[in-house]
Amino acid sequence: MSVGKIEINGKTHEAPLVIGSEGEVALDISKLRASTGMITLDGGFKNTGACTSSITFIDGANGILRYRGYAIEELCEKSNFLEVAKLLVDGELPNSEKLTNFKNQIKKFSSLPDGIKQIIKSFPTNAHPMGVLSSAISAMSGYMESKDYGNLSKDDYDELIPSMMAAVKMIAAYNYRHNKGLEFIDSNNDLNYCSDFINMMFGKVDEDIAEALDVLFILHADHEQNCSATAARVAGSAHANIYASMASGVNALWGPRHGGANQKVIEMLEMIEKDGGDYQKYIEKAKDKSDPFRLMGFGHRVYKNFDPRAKIIKGYCETVLNKLGVKDPTLDIAKGLEEVALKDPYFVERKLYPNVDFYSGIIYRALGIPTNMFTVMFAIGRMPGWIAQWKELLGQGMAISRPRQIYTGSGLREYSNIENR
Ligand code: CMC
Repeated sequence: MSVGKIEINGKTHEAPLVIGSEGEVALDISKLRASTGMITLDGGFKNTGACTSSITFIDGANGILRYRGYAIEELCEKSNFLEVAKLLVDGELPNSEKLTNFKNQIKKFSSLPDGIKQIIKSFPTNAHPMGVLSSAISAMSGYMESKDYGNLSKDDYDELIPSMMAAVKMIAAYNYRHNKGLEFIDSNNDLNYCSDFINMMFGKVDEDIAEALDVLFILHADHEQNCSATAARVAGSAHANIYASMASGVNALWGPRHGGANQKVIEMLEMIEKDGGDYQKYIEKAKDKSDPFRLMGFGHRVYKNFDPRAKIIKGYCETVLNKLGVKDPTLDIAKGLEEVALKDPYFVERKLYPNVDFYSGIIYRALGIPTNMFTVMFAIGRMPGWIAQWKELLGQGMAISRPRQIYTGSGLREYSNIENR
């Protein structure tokens, strides 16, 4: 076994090296506290591996993304969302029998309990759909039998995973209908996953829209230990149930630094358009450290090169807009902004490139999806990834996530009565 050595106060401590299948190396510091009395400190987990995982591989320096060893570009071209979902949760591409069973299982769960529909209807029609999505997913726990989530059987997974995949689609569609003040449309088992979703939202099937969504969902399906997957894993590590764990993922995704960025990108592009389209002004604002403005849809913790998802979406943007006959001025603004940013030393030095959220909103908008639903689209796509991460963690018998800290507060103080303060 290879070991790494750390010298602290003149004493050498050894820690095993863990080497991944693509040559990535980690120093396993889990036993270091016993010999040094110290913990490691890494706010935001910028350089911390929380697990070993065989689901998704990212090479951020070279802009590579693979699910279970398959290149994202090839999956987008040849596969479909439910096949990719099955690949993620099982580890292998399904044969036709397994894929058919998976689809049938999802169809088996094609109605939501009335109580969940009532919960969706109880929200104001202008409530943010991400809040409604996470609440309704959490509430699904109220309709399941009690199980030992640390010890699930194959049969349990075969029920829970399709039920979660079905629920996210229906909740999202009902959420949209409720926000528009429209009656809910039942799921139709004769339609495929994306067509059914489109039909439940818009009351008609549009193959072009369903096809475009399918590719977008594949592109969002997993992204290893990102913020929302980590949130789902942390909840799962406490053996919280599947709905509670997935709702944790949804809540983390909502934030504008993460999946919420797709909504913010469109809002930013619209603001620039209204302001006369002066990209340079906004590039200068993004560079100014005293200005809170950031170029939304730019930068990534892992990619220090083009985000391969952004490359595919940018190309796909033109195709979808042309196919749907949509002319969107924000696409020109986005392209202009990207061109200026990629030449600017601030962005070049920090290796800041467009990420998955930069162009996706333009497609969602062309498909007729309202801006405040963009992150919900991300959540539907990401659901199989969160499930795969959660299932892997349980299968590994992972310890509860419980980081340590360095306390910097006051020492012991004596309580003083209110009148003496
Ligand atoms: N605009 C301007 N400056 C930026 C940006 C940006 N979008 N992103 C990073 N920087 C600067 C940052 O100020 C810092 O500069 P300095 O070294 O001078 O202090 C440097 O680049 C490194 O950034 P960081 O914030 O330390 O990097 P991080 O890994 O902690 O954060 C990020 C990554 C994605 C949160 C960040 O790049 C960001 O806020 N981007 C905008 C929001 C966004 O598009 N999020 C979607 C991410 S991809 C999809 C997803 O995860 O859901």
